[in-house]
Amino acid sequence: MDISFNAIDNSLTSDQFARVSQILYRACGISLGPGKEELVKARLVKRLRFLNLHNFDQYIEFVNSGKSAQELKIMTDALTTNKTSFFREEQHFHFLKDHVIDVVAKTTQKLRIWSAGCSSGEEPYSIAMHLQENISNSYSWDNKILATDISPTVLNKAKNGIYTEESLRDVPVSLHSKYFRRMGTEFDIQYQVMDNIRNMIKFAILNLIGPWPMSGPFDVIFCRNVMIYFDKPTRQKLVSRYYSLLKPGGYLFVGHSESLTGTATQFKYIQPAVYMKEQI
Ligand SMILES: C[S@@+](CC[C@H](N)C(=O)[O-])C[C@H]1O[C@@H](n2cnc3c(N)ncnc32)[C@H](O)[C@@H]1O
Repeated sequence: MDISFNAIDNSLTSDQFARVSQILYRACGISLGPGKEELVKARLVKRLRFLNLHNFDQYIEFVNSGKSAQELKIMTDALTTNKTSFFREEQHFHFLKDHVIDVVAKTTQKLRIWSAGCSSGEEPYSIAMHLQENISNSYSWDNKILATDISPTVLNKAKNGIYTEESLRDVPVSLHSKYFRRMGTEFDIQYQVMDNIRNMIKFAILNLIGPWPMSGPFDVIFCRNVMIYFDKPTRQKLVSRYYSLLKPGGYLFVGHSESLTGTATQFKYIQPAVYMKEQI
């Protein structure tokens, strides 16, 4: 009786780790630092199993061979870090109200905002709810939010706009019934973002290091907790592309653990994690 089975050698040598890192870097700019070997192994060993491959050499060869263009996307998807939450880093929301919404209210009443690296949608939905809460006559404004990410898995979640009770912990309670519809069962309660908020956002797959189909200009670009995964040359290029896509007087928001220090840029520092393209 043949009882052969697919025994997987799940060890990841430093050479294999370096090759995976190189593939990922070329695909999306993410630079895997030392110490990420276990993460790579844990996230990719499932792919070896699924594809019936025996070791990481075979997997790397498969990705490189281009036999499945899809596998490079799946690998990239598996290796991105998607941690996010509603109203994360709330100082940006205060800044948005005081320096953008209140200013535009007196002029064009038109806002274009981009959430670049939006993950599962908590960031763009927070922006949309914040606009709704702070604009009294929002029906007469022309507001659009673009939300993009490289990962189809998180982007699908974002489009569906369905979240667990736990993920609503950072949403002010007064906004729960206003902007979320309760669904699911007694044992599995879920909340879906209401249509008026969902309709304010256009979700799209976009690789930040690839071509950008949109021409802007934006009033604000949120690129928070994304560039930390990139190396300096990639950050440099991205920051200058953001600069070109912002209106004069527009703002770039980065994560609070990030800064543009050491990046050659025309952006003016305003306060931690907030940069402005100066008016000409
Ligand atoms: C840690 S999450 C940040 C989410 C949100 N901006 C926040 O601060 O809560 C980083 C996101 O960047 C995305 N990302 C990484 N590399 C990317 C690339 N080259 N193009 C587009 N998105 C990318 C990841 O898929 C992930 O969803």
